[in-house]
Amino acid sequence: MAEESGPVTFPAGFFWGAATAAYQIEGAWDEDGKGESIWDRFAHRAGTIKGATTGEVACDSYHRVDSDVALMRELGLTSYRFSIAWPRVQPDGRGAIEQRGLDHYRRLTDALLGAGIRPLPTLYHWDLPQALEDAGGWPARDTAERFAEYAAIVTGALGDRIEQWATFNEPWIFTRLGYLAGIHAPGRTDAAAYLRATHTVNLAHGLATRAMKAANPALRVGCAYSVSPAIPASDAPEDHAAAEAFHAYANRWFLDPALHGRYPENALAGELPLAAMGYRDGDDRIMRTGLDWAGINYYFHLVIRDAPTDDGALRFRFATVDRNQHPRTDFGWPVNPDGLRAILLRMWRDCGGIPLEITENGCSYHECPGDDGRIRDERRIAYVRGHLSAVAQAIDDGVDVRGYHHWTLTDNFEWAEGTTQRFGLVHLDPHSLARTIKDSGRWYAQVARTGLLS
Ligand code: FCB
Repeated sequence: MAEESGPVTFPAGFFWGAATAAYQIEGAWDEDGKGESIWDRFAHRAGTIKGATTGEVACDSYHRVDSDVALMRELGLTSYRFSIAWPRVQPDGRGAIEQRGLDHYRRLTDALLGAGIRPLPTLYHWDLPQALEDAGGWPARDTAERFAEYAAIVTGALGDRIEQWATFNEPWIFTRLGYLAGIHAPGRTDAAAYLRATHTVNLAHGLATRAMKAANPALRVGCAYSVSPAIPASDAPEDHAAAEAFHAYANRWFLDPALHGRYPENALAGELPLAAMGYRDGDDRIMRTGLDWAGINYYFHLVIRDAPTDDGALRFRFATVDRNQHPRTDFGWPVNPDGLRAILLRMWRDCGGIPLEITENGCSYHECPGDDGRIRDERRIAYVRGHLSAVAQAIDDGVDVRGYHHWTLTDNFEWAEGTTQRFGLVHLDPHSLARTIKDSGRWYAQVARTGLLS
């Protein structure tokens, strides 16, 4: 546990947020001209999602902009991280624009601004237009061009009122789970496709950043990375080197290209498979754009030892070790706030001192309403208190952390887990979709309003 010594005051202007993603909350999956996404297609396929649920309705947030923004105010939020569904804006992922889709996000943005809440949009939180997947998906180089076109459309429409943007959410996770492991959309298990997908995403980030800044140089563009600190399993130098290699592969594969135009050399056991990735001369210049800020999504650490392994696509010099000494959430994820402080220090160094924000951190606990309707989720309060304390310590250590976004606002559609995992500060009744603020939400509101963690 992170050390807790007396009340902690966060800097004035620190952003208190919550994070969501379009497919996980919006519903309205085929309304107002929206095109089909890979998640629509995947979730409709039998056997992909626990309980055979889909995001067709989810939290119905598409139809509840005003009441959800009112809820955010009750929670004391000063920032709201949401994602834009590409197929709402460009149903086929290229060409024609669906104005009603853009209008939805303009309405949401204006409601947030009116409530004194900063909108922090992510352009891609995993819902690729199905038409683009049919044309090859992320493994196809052309998807990078399509993404840049889409980014320019969205920032052209909203860049006058939103300054700070994230291009992608967790590039490492969606390329791996979607193209290699096959447990997320589009459900492919093709090692070669996975490798190419990672490179296309790095090109897409570079092209989109340039397109956005060409339209409006004042925009601040970053990306939200999934990160796990790699703890060496022992003091042996081999385990330390293995942990460094894991860090390079899991935490820097999408960071180094944006900052330096190259992939981390020590990530793999052998040579970088640049040819298999579809790398061309000059790609370093496309990828290297710098970052104005970086988003940190932290859920858990990993313990790493030296061992030769492979994932079907790549050969590694590391293996993960059980983390049984840590308490677990109801999802089975280890709870380790110290890991957040450690990865903030490390990312701060690796990012060269750019501003960081926690773009996601949270826990799935299943507490439901008691007879009086109250949701007593003390475990979530303890989790958030520990992690905020770790953030405060990192700030004390000199890391420029500007905000914290709890994952998530309301219980929602948790990808392949369907509705079996509950991450919200707000309880969602699965039938009526009624929202009830949990004890953790009330506690978080207090912290957000006072900037004080006691
Ligand atoms: C992250 C995702 C987010 C949510 C949380 C629990 O990896 O970015 O959409 O599923 O995990």
